[in-house]
Amino acid sequence: MASPTFTRQELATLAALRARFLDGSNAGGGYWKSDAELALYDASFGERIGWKWDAVLAELHARGWRPSAKNVVDWGCGSGIAGRRVIAAWEGFESLTLTDVSPLAMRFAESRARENFPALRTRMKSDAADAAAGSLLLVSHVLNEADDAAAHRLIAAARRAQEIIWIEAGTHADSRRLISVREKLLAEFEIIAPCTHAARCGMLAAENSAHWCHHFARVPSEASRDARWSQFGRELGIDMRSLPYSFLVLARRGVAADFEKNVRGFSRIIGRPRDEKGHFEVLSCSETGVEDLIAQKRDVPELSRQLRKGHADAVQRWTLNGRRITDAAPLIPPN
Ligand SMILES: C[S@@+](CC[C@H](N)C(=O)[O-])C[C@H]1O[C@@H](n2cnc3c(N)ncnc32)[C@H](O)[C@@H]1O
Repeated sequence: MASPTFTRQELATLAALRARFLDGSNAGGGYWKSDAELALYDASFGERIGWKWDAVLAELHARGWRPSAKNVVDWGCGSGIAGRRVIAAWEGFESLTLTDVSPLAMRFAESRARENFPALRTRMKSDAADAAAGSLLLVSHVLNEADDAAAHRLIAAARRAQEIIWIEAGTHADSRRLISVREKLLAEFEIIAPCTHAARCGMLAAENSAHWCHHFARVPSEASRDARWSQFGRELGIDMRSLPYSFLVLARRGVAADFEKNVRGFSRIIGRPRDEKGHFEVLSCSETGVEDLIAQKRDVPELSRQLRKGHADAVQRWTLNGRRITDAAPLIPPN
């Protein structure tokens, strides 16, 4: 962020944007009023979304996955944060298509992309179904604005994509929406993340209805010390330490050469394990379903240490004795 603190006027604009995101009056999208509003969003809410993209992209890098599509489509691009994060994450992309119901947003996102990646071909399209064919489709924080018809069009576009990276807010409702996307696309796509299996989502079992599939991104340390970000959190009532998200990364079957086999037999930690004095309660998802496990310091000292620091790899191979984790092998060992 550029200047020391937000002005009163900027805070009022951000509060109005947030209210619209929270009360559902954003349905249908296309509410952007000016470039100044998009720039303000991009430097605040958009940047926080960027940190979620950083978390997902870091996980994909660590796991050695990269998309093969040369063309990227950012669907519901807003200020274009998702497209820019992804273009910067891997070499070799040839074009970026920005799509949104708001022409203002598409123009803003395109001009930011051009500034950042002058050699990249960029274009704007209000209907991205054709552009999505054979592309890497990005979707970020859109589902709660899409009515049934828009969601249907988006799924139809997704079915034509080569790969998909989709991030939504880490709320119960948004995670559940994304789970229903997963179930619709499962037959045609391999799941790269977050799931370690291609079985029906365990969250759909009746006993797990109170749970949802979410994860936490890290807030960069510069931001936690920054006066403008603390003003942002304080004035808008946003907990700056917590950045929950849900996500889904898919590759058309056959494209990723059975990437699923790398995580066969592994489980994924959901949400934030609860520190219960002497042990952690861990919600774990695997092919056999979602279960509550216990990690005791005396059984798994290294895992307990990593959990306490908030650094444990989310993907682990457990050895279990009932609900007790007696051994844990992370997919990506701590460095
Ligand atoms: C919360 S913003 C997210 C913007 C951006 N993807 C991000 O992550 O920062 C949602 C965006 O989706 C757009 N949108 C909503 N419904 C849409 C639809 N049916 N088709 C295309 N864009 C849509 C809105 O105009 C808005 O720009």
